[in-house]
Amino acid sequence: MSRKLRTAILGCGKVAHLHASALVTLDESNLVAVCDVNLERAKAFATQYRAAAFNNLSEMIACAAVEVLVICTPHPLHATGATAAANAGVHVLVEKPLASTVTDCDAMIEAARRNHVRLGVVSQRRYFEPVMRMKAAIDAGKIGTPVLGTVAMFSWRDEVYYRSDPWRGRWDTEGGGVLINQSPHHLDILQWLMGPVEEVVARWANLNHPYVEVEDTALAILKFRSGGLASITVSVSQKPGIYTKIHIHGSNGASVGAQTDSGATFIAGMSEVAEPPLNDVWTIHGEEHLLDGYRNEDRDMFGRIDATAHFHLLQDRDFLRCIVDDREPAVPGSEGRKVVQIIEAIYRSGREGSPILLQSPHDG
Ligand SMILES: NC(=O)c1ccc[n+]([C@@H]2O[C@H](COP(=O)([O-])OP(=O)(O)OC[C@H]3O[C@@H](n4cnc5c(N)ncnc54)[C@H](O)[C@@H]3O)[C@@H](O)[C@H]2O)c1
Repeated sequence: MSRKLRTAILGCGKVAHLHASALVTLDESNLVAVCDVNLERAKAFATQYRAAAFNNLSEMIACAAVEVLVICTPHPLHATGATAAANAGVHVLVEKPLASTVTDCDAMIEAARRNHVRLGVVSQRRYFEPVMRMKAAIDAGKIGTPVLGTVAMFSWRDEVYYRSDPWRGRWDTEGGGVLINQSPHHLDILQWLMGPVEEVVARWANLNHPYVEVEDTALAILKFRSGGLASITVSVSQKPGIYTKIHIHGSNGASVGAQTDSGATFIAGMSEVAEPPLNDVWTIHGEEHLLDGYRNEDRDMFGRIDATAHFHLLQDRDFLRCIVDDREPAVPGSEGRKVVQIIEAIYRSGREGSPILLQSPHDG
């Protein structure tokens, strides 16, 4: 059996339950403590998962000898928790998005580097079978090079959702709307499959959520360093939600794609993943006949797993194993930074009405 690492959670809200259920299940983990600014909430959560409760992060790390922290606070607070934990020698897995600004991402990455701890960011849809198939096909050169991508999210969030926590729907406490909250998963997959983004042109707006100040819809054109292009349309303004899809088209004319979410994207603690993610386009020459089999496999698997929790468990396990094996996590902090950089550029392009060039961290 693997060594059990002493794990803990910061922020005992909705998504924290997905991590807690993984961290009490995995061989690599001993969930020792949880922390929330609201001590009553931390205590109730701790009782459910048989851990110790705290309302002060430094105290929890010291008293419970925490080795690994999973951060589940609202995104503008990710950086403070992550840098404090890294400075205390604790490995940190952060819920998406890594942070709400690139400056915060850089501080987190630097703190992890300086303290020789691992920093990872959650992007559980990378573990969806249809997405992994797309990645394997692209890496094997089956579509030539990826030259055109599309992300289309037609989702829905209602007033009850925005009123469910005081930090939602506000620039200062959420850092934005659909872009910073719902779209990081798909922006991450897009850049994972197509490579670094060079330039962004964008528009965003609040189309039908007058009770929140942030955007509910964003459109952007991305130009990649490879010369490839992508369009993204992400919205939580369709009632009911319709789907979220990502498609990648290659230089040899072949296309691969997946519908990752049907209806509205799930809300941790409020709704479940109701239908399986499925490949919906597969035109690789000689492989067209595989699509039906892939879809059947994925429907079968969906019947066997709890799809709401399963993919968080896979990523939590990878993060714990990367510490034991002394390697990079599957999705390191640097990948989370790329997503936040795209998001920041989209916001800026919309505000300034002009294209934004993205600097590589190595451009100096
Ligand atoms: N990967 C996914 O699919 C997924 C799903 C949902 C949420 N998330 C991410 O997880 C994060 C949390 O989302 P949520 O829906 O669980 O929010 P939530 O509001 O349900 O939970 C946040 C918790 O953090 C606590 N908190 C706030 N400030 C704190 C502080 N300074 N110290 C300690 N605790 C503090 C709150 O009291 C609350 O219990 C967000 O960044 C969100 O984007 C990811």
